[in-house]
Amino acid sequence: MSEFRPVAKLSEVPEGSAIRVEIDGCPIAIARSEGGVYACQDTCTHEEASLSDGDVFDAVIECPLHGARFDLRTGAVKSLPAVVPIQVFEVKIEGDTILVKR
Ligand code: FES
Repeated sequence: MSEFRPVAKLSEVPEGSAIRVEIDGCPIAIARSEGGVYACQDTCTHEEASLSDGDVFDAVIECPLHGARFDLRTGAVKSLPAVVPIQVFEVKIEGDTILVKR
């Protein structure tokens, strides 16, 4: 059964950036944009790039390798070359702690 797990402190993820964490060995990107905190799969669906190394803006994360963009709210592809959406996860904030449900 999935449950919320603490993954990082808010202070570790400045606005407009992302970090990589792991839940049960699975890489997850935690991103902050437009005042929101988001969690998504860290591995791009195009090739094997780590999305948390990419740029974050307008609630979008951009792959650092070929520039595919994904909507952090839904996982939808916003820009090629990726065509498969990323998985996104529920986020909860408790004090300064970011929790992710996976
Ligand atoms: S690996 Fe992400 S766009 Fe190619």
